[in-house]
Amino acid sequence: MAETGKAGIGIFGAGWVGLVTGACFAELGHRVVVRDIVPERIDALRAGRVPIHEEGLSELLERNRERISFTLDAREVAAQAELLFVCVGTPPTYSGDADLSAVWTVLDELPAETRATLVMKSTVPVGTGDKVRAALEARGLGQVGYVSNPEFLSEGRALRDFMQPDRVVIGAFAENDALTVRALYEGLDAPIVQTDVHSAEMIKLASNAFLATRISFINEIANVCEVTGADVEEVAAGMGLDRRIGPHFLRAGIGYGGSCFPKDVSALKQLAGNSGYHFQLLNSVIEVNELQKRRVVGKLKKHLGQLAGKRIALLGLAYKAGTDDLREAASIVLAARLLAEGAEVSAWDPVARPRDELRGATLAGSPLEAVTGADAAVIVTEWDELRDLARDEVRSAMRTPLIVDGRNLLDPQAARAAGFAYEGVGRPTSPFSALPETESPEPRVPR
Ligand code: UGA
Repeated sequence: MAETGKAGIGIFGAGWVGLVTGACFAELGHRVVVRDIVPERIDALRAGRVPIHEEGLSELLERNRERISFTLDAREVAAQAELLFVCVGTPPTYSGDADLSAVWTVLDELPAETRATLVMKSTVPVGTGDKVRAALEARGLGQVGYVSNPEFLSEGRALRDFMQPDRVVIGAFAENDALTVRALYEGLDAPIVQTDVHSAEMIKLASNAFLATRISFINEIANVCEVTGADVEEVAAGMGLDRRIGPHFLRAGIGYGGSCFPKDVSALKQLAGNSGYHFQLLNSVIEVNELQKRRVVGKLKKHLGQLAGKRIALLGLAYKAGTDDLREAASIVLAARLLAEGAEVSAWDPVARPRDELRGATLAGSPLEAVTGADAAVIVTEWDELRDLARDEVRSAMRTPLIVDGRNLLDPQAARAAGFAYEGVGRPTSPFSALPETESPEPRVPR
């Protein structure tokens, strides 16, 4: 490890992808310099505070303190690194296209003397590589190489995904650039897919869109299970054993969220549309997902009648367990819908700390506090802390012992045996006799 000269790897963007990528490359023995434009973020990182919740990340950064540094100065990164990883955000615009302004800013900040290869980790539309190449030429930076190397990191297990990937995808214009990036991953036991830039960009978008499609598919199967008496958990297990199908991403629930699936599915749909192709399937995937988040409201009404004046506890706010990320979380849509129905909303999460997202809801310090006096508890995120929700203490604290399990986290039989009315997703519904009579019940569906 050279203490002077080339740092090896520069990272633009100290967000979730940038920090995980930087920490993992440092762990693999590279010298890494991470650059961000937010001074407080850089100050925090220099002081050893990690601004995001990702299992094992703080420890990994701490262990590699000697090899990783943080800066606000783009010139410092360009001067020290031979590989410049672009890990900036590409959020959706109002049109559903990806907003690439942060990517262009990185390009604008590269000093004229930069001699490095730019490696795109951020998720970008197909064709971005061509545009970056042209922009580099136009700026007199023709000597800067370009590689598409999309990330396949899943929040909450990102370090494992980086160190033990299913595959590494490298799309390059020039063989030399591909080989330089390839060498970084050679220590990992993973197939390397070396391809052209367009295909690498599409592999990323298509992978996320396909996984989202599986989720919307199983959610629709779950909805049909509810009206036909089948149990989606049994159905998914039975389907998943077919090797052509496989068991992954067949968990029915409250719909997918997060910073990736909603954005990337919409970006791919938009990309197709902009190129004159109507991607019909993705329209349905998106619509099914939106409706899935709202089905909880129907289930609550089925048991409680009108929701005005009812107190509903939302348990779990993050878009999935293992993260504090609230982006596109079902909790946000649900809280807004319930408040609009006139319900009171209490909310709990072990790590997510909403700012404005859940305006109007009361935040509780524990699941028990959230359910006290509640007419229903809704499991929104599959946190382990909620696995023993169906217990006496909770039942006595609630005004009405109803659990709507948006993640099929609990055992329906055990919940019913413990005196709760239970509604999962795609599972046989609870006997309504478990609930005391409400003042103005909606017509109830007989079992
Ligand atoms: C996803 C992909 O899994 C990563 O491979 C990809 O790199 C990443 O997006 C990205 O583009 O950066 P992530 O958003 O962290 O990762 O989370 P997932 O674990 O994929 O879950 C996404 C959403 O789908 C969550 O809301 C989750 O609860 C939901 N989900 C997942 C289901 O509802 N059912 C399932 O069976 C699986």
